[in-house]
Amino acid sequence: MRAIEPVPETMRAAVLHAYDGAPESLRIETRPVPKPARGQVLVKMFAAPINPSDLMFLKGLYGLLKPLPVVPGWEGTGRVVATGDDWFSRMLLGKRVACAAPNKYDGTWAEYMLTSATRCIPLSDTVSDEQGAMLIVNPLTAWALMEIARTSGARAFVQTAAASAVGRMLVRLSQKFGVEGIHIVRREEQAELLRSAGARHILNSETPDFDKQLRELCHQLQATIAFEAVSGMTALRVLKAMPAGSRLILYGALSESPLMADPRDLIFERKRIEGFWLADWLGKRSVLGQLHLARQIQSMLGDLLASEVAARYPLSEVHRALADYQANMTAGKRLIVFAQT
Ligand SMILES: NC(=O)c1ccc[n+]([C@@H]2O[C@H](COP(=O)([O-])OP(=O)(O)OC[C@H]3O[C@@H](n4cnc5c(N)ncnc54)[C@H](OP(=O)(O)O)[C@@H]3O)[C@@H](O)[C@H]2O)c1
Repeated sequence: MRAIEPVPETMRAAVLHAYDGAPESLRIETRPVPKPARGQVLVKMFAAPINPSDLMFLKGLYGLLKPLPVVPGWEGTGRVVATGDDWFSRMLLGKRVACAAPNKYDGTWAEYMLTSATRCIPLSDTVSDEQGAMLIVNPLTAWALMEIARTSGARAFVQTAAASAVGRMLVRLSQKFGVEGIHIVRREEQAELLRSAGARHILNSETPDFDKQLRELCHQLQATIAFEAVSGMTALRVLKAMPAGSRLILYGALSESPLMADPRDLIFERKRIEGFWLADWLGKRSVLGQLHLARQIQSMLGDLLASEVAARYPLSEVHRALADYQANMTAGKRLIVFAQT
């Protein structure tokens, strides 16, 4: 092992004991600091966000379950303070990185995280610790969805949960690339937020004429691709509104409900439903391709792919951070921040 500073024997971490979403199943505990082997790095954490994927993970609803007890948190930022004894990991020693948690072991809601060197992205000086902590999950997803929209041949796209961090990035990307978007929200404040960001076609799913207006707009703009993050009845309503032959890409399940669809839309109108998972999309790129993309994304974190931060909490207040986030997700990300010594 190589290290740039003394690494303590123990650390504080949020530890999940059951996939039931109960606050008492997530506890702040003292754990041993793991030691990096070949291909691994130890990251001293600066900050980690709470994302919808974390909420799903805590309830056992995410696509990956890890053996319990486990530290949650899928992404964050920090400094690589120790590495395994191989050249690839050693290149990261001392570097500030955005980092993703391993698929099977502890995540980012701890003072230190052990992960694979290939799951770290060295940060340029222009990227703050906070924006770096939110570099991987949402900016890459928004970029990927826009790429899918642009290469699909669709004249316009529909998106749900449009006031989310990803949704707002899609609004800005659609303006940059000149792709028309229909943005669906569920509250008037969210519509106002998107209006002030320059979005033109905004619909509130809670208004009486929503289904009629959505259908008219989808046909008028020829919106034949939808990015759907809510699932349940929302998917059914969006798919029904789009022209024959359209494609709905489900990339989230904020309602935590099974997806609904009218069989007639699939059979007689040849509409299609598919899933999107960032891990799969990234996995199709070479390591070099991923690094190139990461550099591109970093240059857009200041504007196009920036995330709002609503509040910062120390690790000891993780429960308060979770409650605050779930009470108003639109307000912005809640970051868990770690004191630096
Ligand atoms: N598939 C992938 O690889 C991938 C990668 C990244 C993100 N995602 C997904 O992208 C989505 C957005 O993530 P984010 O981090 O950008 O979210 P976020 O910033 O935390 O915002 C969530 C938004 O969704 C709204 N919302 C929550 N529950 C809803 C419901 N039942 N119906 C309608 N709207 C609802 C919230 O509105 P309120 O304020 O009214 O609650 C808020 O505007 C999530 O579903 C996430 O899982 C998927």
